[in-house]
Amino acid sequence: ADLEREKLIEAHELTAKLYNYLLKNTTHGQQAMAYLRNRGVTDKQIDHFNIGYAPREWDTLVRFLDQRKFDLALMEKGGLISAKHDGSGYVDRFRERIMFPLWSREGKTIAFAGRLLGEGQPKYMNSPETRLFNKSRNLYNFHHARVDMRKHRRVVLFEGYMDVIKAWSAGVNNGVASMGTSLTEEHASLLQRNADEAIICYDGDNAGMAAALKTIPLLEKTGLKVQVAVLPQGMDPDEYIEKHGANAFMREMIEHPVSATKFKLIYAKKNHILLEEEGRKDYLLEAAGIIAALDSPIEREIYLKDLSREFDIPIEVLKQDVFHHREKSY
Ligand code: CTP
Ligand code: MN
Ligand code: MN
Ligand code: MN
Ligand code: MN
Repeated sequence: ADLEREKLIEAHELTAKLYNYLLKNTTHGQQAMAYLRNRGVTDKQIDHFNIGYAPREWDTLVRFLDQRKFDLALMEKGGLISAKHDGSGYVDRFRERIMFPLWSREGKTIAFAGRLLGEGQPKYMNSPETRLFNKSRNLYNFHHARVDMRKHRRVVLFEGYMDVIKAWSAGVNNGVASMGTSLTEEHASLLQRNADEAIICYDGDNAGMAAALKTIPLLEKTGLKVQVAVLPQGMDPDEYIEKHGANAFMREMIEHPVSATKFKLIYAKKNHILLEEEGRKDYLLEAAGIIAALDSPIEREIYLKDLSREFDIPIEVLKQDVFHHREKSY
């Protein structure tokens, strides 16, 4: 069985090389290369992340693996190719997609994600879960990021591949991505074993903010200190870097995250219309609840002071509300 594992890894490594070669050196790859260039992806990024291209043909990879005497049934089980419906052979699983190799913790290629060159569904296609690859345990770029994570005891969490890749060029050497799935307890514990602090840097859309809100307690439960880099509305890290540049991204986003509590307050605020009295009141009640959940009186004082100033309400009044919340929760 372990021989199978080795064979599958070997096949994945060779496939990644093939896809990378096809991207860089063939006419097939030119369109994909143009797509990447258009998105600001550099040669350095292509090399470091071993980005590739799966061509349009049905059997490029099947023939490649067959020629090298790989057991095609095993390759199908490993998610590299698919069995034809009529059982008469195999076809490539990934076609006409930009290919991102996914690595094990040791840095071996164990799966792929493939992105369409334009719009369409599904935008990304992943390898299936196999004995090598398990989405709920694997984080994109973990094996690269680990070195810097351990050195600085800090990790930056992104949603997607392009975010990690662009941020790497901006100087974020400790970036990983959960690849669309919500972060699991296994992910969180893996991060906690390598870092003390996490910065969540998800997309600045509703889905991203909601995901960040869910991720905070999961990370905090492991003992990690959590902060959030709040992206402008509708922008993801990749887009931010393209629009404002790497320096601005580091300075404005990565070096100025807000506390988890501040983020919760920002999120709650977004959901209320502060120009209306009702909305203002609802927000203040919700904010009192968020602040009440803090164990440290000093921390509570700091956030209450801000709130008191912002809404011109005496801090003693806010404290009464917070006090009721805390009483209730005991
Ligand atoms: N994702 C996925 N399948 C999809 C859509 C998303 O697996 N159909 C995962 C990918 O890992 C993706 C991440 O979720 O990188 C975040 O999704 P999204 O923000 O929609 O994509 P981007 O990373 O911004 O992709 P791109 O910049 O290439 O458009
Ligand atoms: Mn997103
Ligand atoms: Mn995104
Ligand atoms: Mn994006
Ligand atoms: Mn409300």
